[in-house]
Amino acid sequence: MNLLLERESELAALDSALVAMGGLVLVRGAPGIGKSRLVAEAGERAARAGRSVLRGRGGELERDFAFGVVRQLFGPALSELGAVERSAALAGAAALAGPAVGLDEDRGGVTTGDRLFAVMHGLYWLCANLASRRPLLLAVDDAQWADEQSLRWLAYLARRLADLRVLVVLAIRVEEDAEDSALLQTIAAEPLTRTLEPRPLSIGAVGAQRRESVCPARTHGRAGRGRDRSRPPGGGAADRAPASRDGEQKRAPTAGQAA
Ligand SMILES: Nc1ncnc2c1ncn2[C@@H]1O[C@H](COP(=O)(O)OP(=O)(O)O)[C@@H](O)[C@H]1O
Ligand SMILES: [Mg+2]
Repeated sequence: MNLLLERESELAALDSALVAMGGLVLVRGAPGIGKSRLVAEAGERAARAGRSVLRGRGGELERDFAFGVVRQLFGPALSELGAVERSAALAGAAALAGPAVGLDEDRGGVTTGDRLFAVMHGLYWLCANLASRRPLLLAVDDAQWADEQSLRWLAYLARRLADLRVLVVLAIRVEEDAEDSALLQTIAAEPLTRTLEPRPLSIGAVGAQRRESVCPARTHGRAGRGRDRSRPPGGGAADRAPASRDGEQKRAPTAGQAA
């Protein structure tokens, strides 16, 4: 993978969230800005720090599949456990999570009313049980496309994170002139949520990306330093793409387009 450039503050925020746990980090931004990359980096850092990493990703064509993202998060983690550990994870109220994680084929009615609430509660306890063995990172990319039930559960969890050794990282694609869904806004407003909005890369960084894709050896010495050292440090607006009239950076090349 190419170097991760100009993301010092985002990485510092993710690192401190991974130390503190009990929180949620939203990564918002336009397509190509580098959200998935930050989510992947959070996963790698979490794994290095000894956290369990559970991953999920919203899919535009899978939004109608109730608890689809939740199932991505917990299904593999549960199936990797031995029988004794799995029953510990699903002990007590966590058993109510069965229909959402693919362990109970009776999924009828899990999307509404008391049954939905029971499943939410069960998932919370499943998460708590797993986190009591090892702190957990729940990493969800493209959360704007997550099914409604999974998002509702993430909102439910976001209100209760203070007591858990769980960090949730959600990436949300932001379309021009479009608002985040009401559930995502609810999550963003929680006191334990921190929102990161990565900026477009500077022209210098885009140049470094291009040089690296042509000749990886040239930039290897800079790996991990997170900044293009060919530019003077602290080079602010002057070496970024021209600003538009409303002050937004005119960023023709997003991280994605440049890659
Ligand atoms: N900070 C960065 N430095 C270098 N390359 C980056 C950076 N952020 C993203 N990229 C690259 O840009 C491309 C698009 O990034 P991605 O994370 O997929 O964007 P998004 O998820 O916001 O659409 C990928 O190839 C990624 O590796
Ligand atoms: Mg992405």
